[in-house]
Amino acid sequence: MSGPGQIILLPDAEAIYEAAAARVLLLATERVAATGRFLLALAGGRTPGGLYQRLAEPPFLEQMPWQQLRVIWGDERYVPPDDPQSNYRLSREALLAQVPIPTAHIYPIPTDAVDPHQAAAAYDQRLQSLLAEHQGQIDLLLLGMGTDGHTASLFPAHPALDAPAAQLVAAVDAAPKPPAWRISLTIAALNRAAHVLLLVSGADKAATLQAVLHGPYQPRRLPVQAVRPPQGSITWLVDQAAGSLIVPSALPLSG
Ligand code: 6PG
Repeated sequence: MSGPGQIILLPDAEAIYEAAAARVLLLATERVAATGRFLLALAGGRTPGGLYQRLAEPPFLEQMPWQQLRVIWGDERYVPPDDPQSNYRLSREALLAQVPIPTAHIYPIPTDAVDPHQAAAAYDQRLQSLLAEHQGQIDLLLLGMGTDGHTASLFPAHPALDAPAAQLVAAVDAAPKPPAWRISLTIAALNRAAHVLLLVSGADKAATLQAVLHGPYQPRRLPVQAVRPPQGSITWLVDQAAGSLIVPSALPLSG
């Protein structure tokens, strides 16, 4: 696809979680009906925590095809899985421990190798095989956006932005957002998504979001701009605080 996608302005973060949960259910139900499985990539950071909690509540708890889900991550901080900074820990506590997803269908990014590059290579292999089982696509990719325009762990002007097209996962050092070491899907991997849901909340992101959506295309300065899946769709779910400087492309969801 070209362009930034559909931009939906919502009153607040709670409304983002409700709208996102409804979209996750819709997409998962449709995909499982068509193929019997659904490959979901979870986002890190704080914003998606409310979505994960919402998905673990009615009606999503009862209606989601949990048994048919396969769960991966778009990025991970290079810390132990029980570390408070771990994206895996956040999503396990808020969602995965609350719903009946088979443990064998959950694929955390490994963070126990001495060398993060080995961990990245191992996850690259894992992702390659999962993509092969899902028609070459991540069925739904959840992402956030940092105040510097990063997404996943792809930061402005970072060498990981230059990963070759065949590389799906990269080790990221010297990340400006702690911790310094991370593992991230590359732009090429993010653009293997069939659907992208970008969740952006908070006034501190308003200026960046305006630059990303209405400014020039400069993905080395604003890496989230590079998320443009050629065979996929992007939906931005933005609250009023983060969207105060942008022009939405769709009326707020009713209800
Ligand atoms: C991470 C995330 C990162 C996050 C943005 C937004 O591991 O930090 O993957 O890309 O999505 O930094 O973070 P917040 O949602 O906490 O603002």
